This record gives sequence, C-alpha cells and structure tokens, in this order.
Amino acid sequence: MDDPMRLLVVCLGNICRSPMAEGALRARIEEAGLGRRIEVDSAGTGDWHVGEPPDRRAIATAAAKGVDISTLRARQLHEQDFHHFDWVLCADRNNLRDVRAIAPAGASGRVALLREWAGGDKGAEIADPYTGGQRHFDEVWAQVDTAALAVVERFVRHRGAV
Ligand code: 4NP
Repeated sequence: MDDPMRLLVVCLGNICRSPMAEGALRARIEEAGLGRRIEVDSAGTGDWHVGEPPDRRAIATAAAKGVDISTLRARQLHEQDFHHFDWVLCADRNNLRDVRAIAPAGASGRVALLREWAGGDKGAEIADPYTGGQRHFDEVWAQVDTAALAVVERFVRHRGAV
C-alpha cells in the first residue's frame, strides 16, 4: 500500500481553528474508511498555548457535531514538520506568511491555505474566532468540515478507496 498522505493543519494558537480542522478531518477520514491512508495532525505558529487542550468553545462546537477533540494538546510548528508532512495547510494568510518564513529550503512539505487547497475559493481563509462568539466557532466548523469532505472526496477520486 502507498505511504499515507500526511497533512498538518496550522493556525496561530493550535487551540481553535487547527484542532477543529484536525477533528473534522479525522472524523470524515474515519467515516470514509481512509484512516490508514491519510494522516492528520495540527500545530500552531505561536507557542502561548503549548500543552493545552483546545479552547472550551472549540471543544463544545466539535462535540455538538459528534466529534471529540478534548484529548488534543497544542504544540508549536517545528522544522521537522516540513520533512514529515506532505502538506502544511494554513488557516489564514498570516499563518501562510509565518509558515513560509520558517519553511526550510529543500523540504518536501508544501504549503497552502487549507480551504483553497481543499477546492474552495482562491485565498479563502478561516477567520480567527478567538475573540468572537459562538457564531464564529460555528462558522469555523462549517468551513473545516466542508474542507474535510472535499479532501476525502478528492483522495478517493485520485487515489482510490481502501
Ligand atoms: P487559533 O486561535 O489560532 O485558531 O488557535 C487563537 C488562539 C489563541 C490566540 C490567538 C488565536 N492567542 O492570541 O492566544
């Protein structure tokens, strides 16, 4: 069997957007029976929340959709990630800029915006919900789940089901 496709989702704190994206991706990947074909992780460009679980609002928003992200723990993006992962998928353009700034030359991992990479509009971002309300967290979930569905669909189309 081929090596799995390895995806790393990156945001600023790794407590809101990227753990929600990791949860949505894992859930859609499992649902499609692709758990051994696609590997998913998440990280933050910042280090403020390293070791912490996701924001309680992110946990609650995912739980309302039947996805448990409470056991995830924040970590910071590090240089080896660019060698391990095939794709480093960013939540917004600030993340994209920060990620590109630390990407080592010659690494195999490519960098993109998650929503754009998943077939969404060019330049489409996932807005930071940290200082927002439930509506913002719901919007993040809708965006990451749409992206997760598209990733799974594209994987099946191009590389075949299990
Ligand atoms: P995230 O949200 O990047 O989606 O995890 C944030 C979390 C924490 C902070 C900013 C954004 N912060 O400044 O601590």
